[in-house]
Amino acid sequence: MARILTGIQSTGIPHLGNILGAVRPAIRMADEGSNEAFIFIADLHSLTTIKNAEERIHNVHAVAATWLAFGLDTERHTFYRQSDIREIGEFTWYMSCFTPYPMLANAHSFKDKSDRLSDVNAGLFNYPVLMASDIMMYDADYVPVGKDQLQHLEITRDIGQAFNRQVGETLVIPEAKVQENTKLVPGIDGQKMSKSYGNAINIFESDKALRKRVMKIVTDSKDVDEPKDPDTCNVFAIYKLLASPEQESALRDRYIKGGMGYGHAKQELYELICSSFEKERARYAELMANPEQIEQELKKGADKARIVGREVIGRVRSKLGYVGAGA
Ligand code: TRP
Repeated sequence: MARILTGIQSTGIPHLGNILGAVRPAIRMADEGSNEAFIFIADLHSLTTIKNAEERIHNVHAVAATWLAFGLDTERHTFYRQSDIREIGEFTWYMSCFTPYPMLANAHSFKDKSDRLSDVNAGLFNYPVLMASDIMMYDADYVPVGKDQLQHLEITRDIGQAFNRQVGETLVIPEAKVQENTKLVPGIDGQKMSKSYGNAINIFESDKALRKRVMKIVTDSKDVDEPKDPDTCNVFAIYKLLASPEQESALRDRYIKGGMGYGHAKQELYELICSSFEKERARYAELMANPEQIEQELKKGADKARIVGREVIGRVRSKLGYVGAGA
């Protein structure tokens, strides 16, 4: 049985792009065949940028509630919060001593962030070592990643191979599973939906706020009577991602015929979002109102993850000669 593992950033409430591009495909992949998935919320990585405790807790809960609302099976899989397994800090130290300094200094994502951010801390620099530890402390075989994370996977493999070469076969060397066909979800301005572009649609907002957001989608200024091109319209692009083939072709016809304003198309989209995610929005609201339920789920996951993590770190300690009473 293969173990797939993935870490989720906890820097904000997951938006429609995250849900269609990451959450749903990951849940589908986890449930395929006889896979067993470890899915965790990377709240230690979030410390590189977020220092506020309430914000961190809120983000973790929002991410956890999203995955739970979308039906992640926490009996079959292991769903946990990174910081709940304290051994990860120790493991990261061991890994860092097998990591060549220049490899981190040359990592794209570090260079990019250190050019962009005002707070360039050593955590940002060590980010890939913590990520390598996230993966190898749980003996993961496969890590589904977007292209932007491929270099981090190469770094992980390099660290693992250096460790195995220098102290003997110990760590499972993971393989990246590149997600090629992830859906590109446009934001309200037509660019890729991203929190940092300020163009995201948050489906968990109230009906009123959600509708207001959908009404802000950028369109051209054709008036009601004119025929419109669905294939260049941001409203239609998002509609298409959620619609059945019948719904899609019905709205397409109305664009082409003319006589329908963009306000109307937006209303259709708003209603489709509400009906598509009715269950998930209700479940999310229920969980966010009962954070102890979320904590219970995370504790269940941490208890399972810890067993594996302790076994692997035990192997590493004994290979390195850390065999004292504290081990
Ligand atoms: N760096 C990943 C991202 O930005 C999140 C992450 C942290 C991760 N640790 C991981 C992903 C381990 C996969 C495996 O999306």
